[in-house]
Amino acid sequence: MQDPAAPQEFEVAIGSAMAAPEAFGASFEATPPVHEFELGEGLEGDPAIAFRRTLGMFATGVTVLTTRAAEQVHGMTANAFMSVSMSPPLVLVSIDRRARMGAMMHEGTRFGVSVLEAKQKGLSDRFAGRISLGVPEPTFAVVHETPLVEGALAHLVARVMRSYWGGDHSLFLGQVEFARYGEGRPLLFHGGRYERLIEDTRVFSLLPSELLDPILALGSERSYHEGESIMRTGEPGDELMLVLEGAVRVRRPGREVTLGVGELIGEIEVLYPDGGRVADVTAEGPVRCLVVSRESLVVALEADPRAAIALVEVLAARFRETV
Ligand SMILES: Cc1cc2nc3c(=O)[nH]c(=O)nc-3n(C[C@H](O)[C@H](O)[C@H](O)COP(=O)(O)O)c2cc1C
Repeated sequence: MQDPAAPQEFEVAIGSAMAAPEAFGASFEATPPVHEFELGEGLEGDPAIAFRRTLGMFATGVTVLTTRAAEQVHGMTANAFMSVSMSPPLVLVSIDRRARMGAMMHEGTRFGVSVLEAKQKGLSDRFAGRISLGVPEPTFAVVHETPLVEGALAHLVARVMRSYWGGDHSLFLGQVEFARYGEGRPLLFHGGRYERLIEDTRVFSLLPSELLDPILALGSERSYHEGESIMRTGEPGDELMLVLEGAVRVRRPGREVTLGVGELIGEIEVLYPDGGRVADVTAEGPVRCLVVSRESLVVALEADPRAAIALVEVLAARFRETV
């Protein structure tokens, strides 16, 4: 049944994915016309490279598209994935006309979308036909008769509703039949390379106790009553705190956590107090904290430079690509 509310251009019925371009007066087989475009100032050289690099500035996640072909699983890495509609639930993928995957996608074909997790870079390379040494064999869960890459951050199963001419790519609009997501961080792709989100705020917590204890020994105790503000966003972050008793609520845009006994607050800000606090922290009940001022911290680091070196190592490791 056609959706009566669908606009006219949506009503292009296709027998198979390959019929779509004809519907638009184009052909999959015809060489796409070359269209000149203007390059911005300072961008010289091969326009195709400049175009690719321009598009590469759009940061995306990375997915593996999967489908079943004669009891075989076929998978392909794709970052050209987008959400389209909530009702009906629709997604879109763009597939190179030279890719084997495209030839397997017809109207009604089910395909899986596995949104890769930060550690699945090797799988991304593998499904892109790149050399990926030491990557374990992927395993698949089958949902709605569709293979999905295990360990991925999110999964969708969709059925091809329509396909469209997209120059040297074909666009496949899929109606979603299944969706799930889990906890974790996504693998990202930007500027032609993999990236990841850095959300780990632990710095001092990662020091061995022989280096951390002398720093904390210079602190003094402070108490807070239920609901009292301990830190406010924007204030200079010139104190490091250790929760000795009770629990605190840490609120920042898009994220709320409760920290308890033995956990540190303000670990990054104390190293860069001018940046200001990035979260509001309130006492969830009566709270007792150990407070180490930045001045005391500097004294402790001067007394034992091994602690300073260990901190630099923690920070350097954070910036090295480890996915
Ligand atoms: C990060 C990344 C993203 C990619 N995104 C796409 C994409 O969106 N569409 C596409 O057609 N190819 C994309 N590719 C290339 C395909 O994964 C690659 O051509 C693959 O070998 C095609 O597989 P197939 O011919 O076996 O189907 C991407 C590759 C990488 C590494």
